Amino acid sequence: MDAFIIEGGNPLQGEVAISGAKNAVLGIIPAAVLCACSSKIDNVPDIKDVNKMIVILEKLGAEIYRENDTLIINTEKPISYDVSDYEEETGQMRASYYLLGALLGRYRKAIVPLPGGCNIGDRPIDQHIKGFQALGATVVIEHGQVKMEAPELKGAHIFLDVVSVGATINIMLAAVRADGKTIIENAAKEPHIVDVANFLNLMGANIKGAGTDVIKIVGVEEMHGCEYSVIPDQITTGTYMMAAAATEGDILIKNVIPKHMEAITAKLSEMGVVVLEEDDGIRVIGKHPLKAVNVKTMPYPGFPTDLQQPMAVLMTIAQGTSTITESIFESRFKYVDELRRMGANISINSRTASITGVKSLSATKIRTTDLRAGAAMVIAGLIADGETKITEIVHIDRGYENLQENLRNLGAVIRRVSEKDPACL
Ligand code: UD1
Repeated sequence: MDAFIIEGGNPLQGEVAISGAKNAVLGIIPAAVLCACSSKIDNVPDIKDVNKMIVILEKLGAEIYRENDTLIINTEKPISYDVSDYEEETGQMRASYYLLGALLGRYRKAIVPLPGGCNIGDRPIDQHIKGFQALGATVVIEHGQVKMEAPELKGAHIFLDVVSVGATINIMLAAVRADGKTIIENAAKEPHIVDVANFLNLMGANIKGAGTDVIKIVGVEEMHGCEYSVIPDQITTGTYMMAAAATEGDILIKNVIPKHMEAITAKLSEMGVVVLEEDDGIRVIGKHPLKAVNVKTMPYPGFPTDLQQPMAVLMTIAQGTSTITESIFESRFKYVDELRRMGANISINSRTASITGVKSLSATKIRTTDLRAGAAMVIAGLIADGETKITEIVHIDRGYENLQENLRNLGAVIRRVSEKDPACL
C-alpha cells in the first residue's frame, strides 16, 4: 500500500484547478444507462471511485471510452440489470447504490449488492428503499444483495424521513422513467443533486425543483443521450482552501463555483483567513494566528460533513477552543487519535469535538481512516514540524485527483512511496 511522506512547514503558493465533483459524477455515470443511447461527459475526475464505477458498467455490458477527462458511455446495446457478481467493486464505494435507481428505472429490475464506502457511522439505505417501494417496486434484501422488481413504476409522493443525498438522487434516477408524477419532499439540496438533475433533464427527463427541498419529477417514456460537463468538486475546493489557510499560504483556486463554498468561506473568514471570490475562482490567504470557531455540520447549504475533518486540523493550531458538532455521521471522529499523536489537544463528548489550539503539530507516522480523514492527515502533515508519514492513502485516491502533484506545484514537499520503497522500511 502506498504512503505519503510530507516535510511540513511550507506555505502553499500559486494556482490550482479543481476537477469535476466526485459525488456528482458518481450519480451521472449510472444515470447515463437510463436509456439505449450514448452520452458524452466532460470534467470527469480520474479517481478510484469513478474508475470502479466504469469497470462495473463495462462488466454489465456498457461500452465506455475515456480520453483525458472526457467519458463516452454507450448503452445502445442492452446491459445487465444484475450486478450481484461484482460485489468486490461495489463493496468499495458508497455510490454503487445509484445502480439500484438507474437499473430499476430502465429495466424495472435490479439486483445490486449492498454498498460499501467510508466507515463513518451507521449508513442505512432505508430511505432509498422506501422511495423505490413507493414507486411500486418489491424489494428483498438477502445474502447481501438488494433485489428489486416493479411490474410497473408509478409516480408517488415521497417524504424523506431524513435529508439524504443518496436517497434523493436514487429516487430521481428511478422516477424519471416512472409513469406519472413523483414528488420528493424533504429532499437534499447539495450542488451535486442539481448537477445530476441537470444531466437527467438534458437526457429528456422532466425534473423541477432540484436544489430546493421539494423536487417534482414527471416521468417520461423516452430519454436520449446528451453532452454534459460536471460541476467542480465542492469538497476538493474546500480541502485546498483549508490547506492554504493552515499553511499560511496564498493560493488561487480556479474552476470553482464560489456560491457552493459559502459556508466554508464564512467559517474561514471568521477564523481570520482572507477569502476573495472571483468569477470562477477563489483566492485564499492564510493569516495566523487563526481564531477559534464553532462548526456544526449540516446538509447543504450548511457546513458539509465531508469537510469537518480538514477543518479540525485548522482548529488544532487556532488560538482558543473550537468545537465541531457532527450532526450527520456519528462515527466521524476516528481520525482524532491520529491528530492527538501529533500533539493536538482534542476531547470528544458524544457528537462534539472540543479542540484547544496548540502552538504546532509534531510530525510522526499517522494513518488515514477514511477518504476525508485522509485529506485532513495531509493538511496536518503540511503544517507539522518535520517529516510525517501517512499510511493507507488508498482512501485518498478514491476521491482526490492528482493531490500530490497539485500540492507539489503549490510548493509542498510531498512524495508517494510504496511500502517496498526503502524510505518506508
Ligand atoms: C453522501 C456522500 C458523502 C457525504 C454525505 C452527506 C456520495 C457518494 N456520498 O453520502 O460523501 O458525506 O452524502 O453529505 O455522494 N440516512 C438514513 N437512511 C437512508 C439514507 C441516509 O438514515 O436511507 C442517514 C445517514 O445515516 C446520515 C444522513 O442520513 O446520517 C445523511 O446521509 P446521506 O446524505 O444519505 O449520505 P450518503 O448518500 O451516504
